[in-house]
Formats: sequence, C-alpha cells, structure tokens
Amino acid sequence: MLKKARLTMSTARGVALVRAMEMARPEAERISSDPYAKAFVNPVNLEGTRLLSAAGVLRLIGVEPMINLAIVREQYIHDLIVAEARAGLDQIVILGAGFDTRAYRIPEIAALPVFEVDHPVTQAEKQAALRKVSAPLPVKHRFVGVDFETDDLGERLRTAGYREDVRTLFVWQGVSMYLTATGIDRTLAFVAEHSAKNSVVVFDYVDTRELEGGEAAMIRFFTGMMGEKVTFGIAQNEIVQFLEARGFTRVRNAHGAEMARPYLIGANARRPMARGVNIVAAIVG
Ligand SMILES: C[S@@+](CC[C@H](N)C(=O)[O-])C[C@H]1O[C@@H](n2cnc3c(N)ncnc32)[C@H](O)[C@@H]1O
Repeated sequence: MLKKARLTMSTARGVALVRAMEMARPEAERISSDPYAKAFVNPVNLEGTRLLSAAGVLRLIGVEPMINLAIVREQYIHDLIVAEARAGLDQIVILGAGFDTRAYRIPEIAALPVFEVDHPVTQAEKQAALRKVSAPLPVKHRFVGVDFETDDLGERLRTAGYREDVRTLFVWQGVSMYLTATGIDRTLAFVAEHSAKNSVVVFDYVDTRELEGGEAAMIRFFTGMMGEKVTFGIAQNEIVQFLEARGFTRVRNAHGAEMARPYLIGANARRPMARGVNIVAAIVG
C-alpha cells in the first residue's frame, strides 16, 4: 500500500525537477525562479536531465514542451498570488502543495497564514527534504495532511487554524488531473461553502477537447512515466458553467496562448510549449 502511495505521489518530484532545471538557465532568461527546488530532487537526475536538455534530446522526444508548460504555469500562478496578496488577502491554502516552496520565498505572503495541504505521503517527504533548505518556515505556516478523495478537508483545515470568515486564496496547481470527479467536487464544495465572499480559487485543468489529440498523448506519457494517470478534465468551453454551477462567479480562463503571452518573449520566445492544460481563476460569490 505504502509502495503504491509512494509511486503515485512522484509527480510532485517531477515538477520540482522542472523548477530546478529552470534555475540552471542564466538568471535573465529564467521564467520562474525557485532557489529551493533542488533540495527536492536527486542531483544525479537533475544533472542527467539537464544534459539531455542541452543535447536537444528532450526536445527531440517531445518532452520539452511539457517542461515549458509547467514553468509557464508556475510563473502565471506566482504572479496571480502576488497580485491577490497586493489586493488584500488574509490567508492562503495551497492544495496538493507537493514540493511547492512559494510559502518560504514570496515576500508578499510572508506574513500571511499559509496552509500547505497535501497527501500525507508527499508531505512527509517534503518535511524531510526541507531540512536541507535554509529558509525558516514562516511563523504562520501549517502543514495539513489530507487525502482529497477520502478525508474531510474542512475538518483538517479548521483543526490547523483555518478561518472561514476571511478572504482566502486557494492555489491548486497540478492536481485536478489526477483526481476523480468526486474528489474535485468535494474540494470545490468546501472552497465555495466555507470561505469568505471574494475568496479566490486558481487551478489548472486538462482541457478534455485536447484529451484525444497528440498533446494529450504526450501529457499522458509524461505523467505516466512518473507513475500517475490523468483521470480528470473539463472541456474549455464548459469551464465557466462548471464553476458557476458550483457557487463561483467571475470565472477567468486562460488557455495555452494566453498563459504563455507574458513569458514566452525575448530569449524565451522560441521555447515550445505544450497546449491542452488551462488555468482558471474564480471568485467565491
Ligand atoms: C503534480 S504534483 C503538484 C505539486 C505542486 N502543486 C506543484 O505544482 O509543484 C501533484 C500533487 O497532488 C497531490 N495529490 C494527488 N492526489 C492526491 C490526493 N488524493 N490527496 C491529496 N493530494 C493529492 C500529490 O501529493 C502531489 O503533491
């Protein structure tokens, strides 16, 4: 059981590897910057992947567009977090946090309560790796172990000090595609029914219209290599209705080209990026 759980949680390490690889680029060419990412990856894997990238192998086998998608997604959501913090936030919940290190490095959220929610298996690995990270955990930071499919997210969050009456940002990056429809609904229902008006949820999802195409095959291959199956998607033209039916308003969807526009410029203009994953933000009405 534990072995299965360990295998199925390894996409978190894959995303950390992508963030660590970005740090090997010259500073002026980095789309996103995570100085702690390398604490979560095997140095041999990092160097091997970097060499394959430099030799053009990752591009040749079609993996590079997926890597660039992950990096663009990372920075798009980073910028949204900063914008929401500047607009006035009271707390942040990072759902399926994996090896995300934003809580320890974004100055705009340093003073806020941050709840990092994840499967206990991934979270235990993160806590072990964090011993190598020099940044102190923010005072109001909390780890919350939850299985979205079976556990009561609300009960776990409240025990950790989560408040329902304040404006909250829920960040759910790189997770929806691995859950069941029930897991998605349970989580969104909690956000819609147990957070203050004007709270925000942001997450990425696989556009099911793409699931049959070539990009989808690559997404499946890439995640399959890391031991996880894509189980959930939404058609892009249904996302507004999907979220409004679940209690959200002001749904803002960004598809591939919109996500890429601010970042694939200058020295990065020629970086190929996979399509088929969108980012959506919505407000609790
Ligand atoms: C691809 S990783 C993304 C991690 C992080 N959000 C990021 O972007 O770096 C997927 C994350 O979803 C979490 N996850 C997958 N299924 C889960 C479940 N049923 N309950 C809780 N977390 C889950 C994994 O533990 C992992 O951290």
